[in-house]
Amino acid sequence: MVRHFLKDDDITAVEQAEILRRALELKKSPYSVRPFEGPKTVALIFDKTSTRTRVSFAVGVADLGGAPLIIDSQSSQMGGKESVADTARVLGRQVAQIVWRTYAHSGLEEMAKHAGVPVINSLSDDYHPCQILADLLTTLEHKGKLAGLKIAYIGDAANNMANSYLIGCALAGMHVSVAGPAGYQPDHRIVARAELIARTQGGSIEVFGEPLGAIANADVVVTDTWISMGQESEKAKRIADFAGYTIDADLMSRAKSDAIFMHCLPAYRGYEVSAEVLDGLQSVIWDEAENRLHAQKALMAWLAEQA
Ligand code: CP
Ligand code: NVA
Repeated sequence: MVRHFLKDDDITAVEQAEILRRALELKKSPYSVRPFEGPKTVALIFDKTSTRTRVSFAVGVADLGGAPLIIDSQSSQMGGKESVADTARVLGRQVAQIVWRTYAHSGLEEMAKHAGVPVINSLSDDYHPCQILADLLTTLEHKGKLAGLKIAYIGDAANNMANSYLIGCALAGMHVSVAGPAGYQPDHRIVARAELIARTQGGSIEVFGEPLGAIANADVVVTDTWISMGQESEKAKRIADFAGYTIDADLMSRAKSDAIFMHCLPAYRGYEVSAEVLDGLQSVIWDEAENRLHAQKALMAWLAEQA
């Protein structure tokens, strides 16, 4: 059966560990695995802007022996002119995999239903699961393990990154604590799903309405922009609502002294994180950005084998 990666728990804990193990191998031997030899083509569709995702998937497909085809949806028939289902049927006849960055998550489900080839979510309004694979890989490299570590996410706890940290890090057996102000807390269905996974994997989930409780004793500290793509009109309100949520040196000092800091990027210095923390000694953001490449290569190679 064709497998897809639309959300963090579309793979099991064992499969997640296997993909991370293969990512470490691919990082050492970048051209050793060639599932797209031919070259086979992989479609990379963007409804939203991107730097890291565009580059890491394009380089990753080429490293795996294939040809990346970048499609900016504004310049294609997708959206208003042609349905997702018909687009999926056309692409599925010609490409090996489809990678899509979009708004509504339901579009990805529709694409997966009709494509007949693996579909990868490279960010939707609800999840950013490829970023979590890269963050787990980076944590594994810096801490030597995942299960049992505490990860604290401080900021917009209702956005795609928060959802993916809750689900994906629970799958890895981590203790996940998130903090967001009123109106920016995770959906109770996401928390319930994450709690169920945490119970089976030995981790735990905590949700706070202030940053101090969440960050206490954390091994890994993460945040994300307060204004996600599509929310630009709410900028002024959001900046006011997130007062007190900036991860600065004082807040960072409440985590473990050897805690690492990560951010999916792009980052807004002085808002969700101070320049001192983002550019400081505990920050591993450039390893994290590079690891998008290695993690996604392992994911694509793994998906290619499942069909
Ligand atoms: N972190 C991330 O997905 O970056 P881009 O928006 O630049 O792809
Ligand atoms: N939450 C952010 C992540 C960007 C990589 C957004 O959706 O814009």
